[in-house]
Amino acid sequence: MEVESISTLADSRLRVKTSLKDSSVQQFETDVFYGLTSKPKRLSPKYFYDEEGSKLFEEICDLPEYYPTRTEHSIIEARTPDIAELAGPEAVLIEFGSGSSTKTRAIIEAFLARFGRLHYIPVDISKTMLTDSAHALLRNYENLRVTGVVSDYVTALQLLNDQKIKNRFIIFLGSSIGNFTKNEARDFLRRVRDTMQPNDHFLLGMDMVKSEETLLAAYDDVQGVTAAFNMNLLTRINRELGGSFDLTKFRHKILFNPEESRIEMHLESTVKQEVAIHGISRTINFEQGETIHTENSYKFSKEQIRTMVQASGFELEKTWYDQNEWFSLNVMKPAPR
Ligand code: AVJ
Repeated sequence: MEVESISTLADSRLRVKTSLKDSSVQQFETDVFYGLTSKPKRLSPKYFYDEEGSKLFEEICDLPEYYPTRTEHSIIEARTPDIAELAGPEAVLIEFGSGSSTKTRAIIEAFLARFGRLHYIPVDISKTMLTDSAHALLRNYENLRVTGVVSDYVTALQLLNDQKIKNRFIIFLGSSIGNFTKNEARDFLRRVRDTMQPNDHFLLGMDMVKSEETLLAAYDDVQGVTAAFNMNLLTRINRELGGSFDLTKFRHKILFNPEESRIEMHLESTVKQEVAIHGISRTINFEQGETIHTENSYKFSKEQIRTMVQASGFELEKTWYDQNEWFSLNVMKPAPR
């Protein structure tokens, strides 16, 4: 991974590395160009997370309808002793998609209690979110050292490969793996596996299939926070790429795709219209009812979890659920080759 800058901030326990690729406007331009000139139109969910989008996502996590965050949190709280037990001596804690690191605090505390000190490597696409939460953690925990990586998951893998880390304890929470298609998830997991030693562990949070009613409500809350989160992508294109999206002519659309076992999030054009995007020198045509597919959120069965874990070269050590089995925390280790 090409690193743009390594900034050592006021606190000597913090380093922040930014991937050149992810921080460039050019990458955003390219992705928007290809996404909006494709059929069907699509955009990557990683672009949700500008400053406003990251804030809106934090709000989503507190919504009554959005069960994943609080359900997973309760499983972690109930299992922290078991989690710490798994970690090898002086394990480095690596987290993909760390966000505000709220749920991770319980794990950090358990590791600190066990080893006395800890090196934590959070990976997140939002620089503000990453540095803000790193500073907050360092204020709370004296014996913590943080290396923040501002990057998408796939790009970060290269960097983690480079690092000479003895013992890895990798966590990927919130069912963020659900943003990947089946093939992407398998490829990503294989690449994570390839960075791991026999005694390393990988803790993977996965959302389970459940009633369509519950799923739809979680992605279409009554307060409209998820709608605002989705629509913010258009605001971001307007601001960063000189777009001219009229937000009153698009609406948030959610559907459950049972064949793929996933929630799909779309932005639907409510009229036939043309939208000029200066930064990519293009005008995009929309039919009435045409959508931009902005996110997939896969929901897993026990069987699917077993299959995916095995297909990516892992062994499933154990799975922890909440009472309703709405969410799962999967403990994995590399399968011997
Ligand atoms: C962060 C990808 C796990 O898919 O549930 C929340 C993002 N999108 N509401 C999810 C999201 C709409 C979230 N992940």
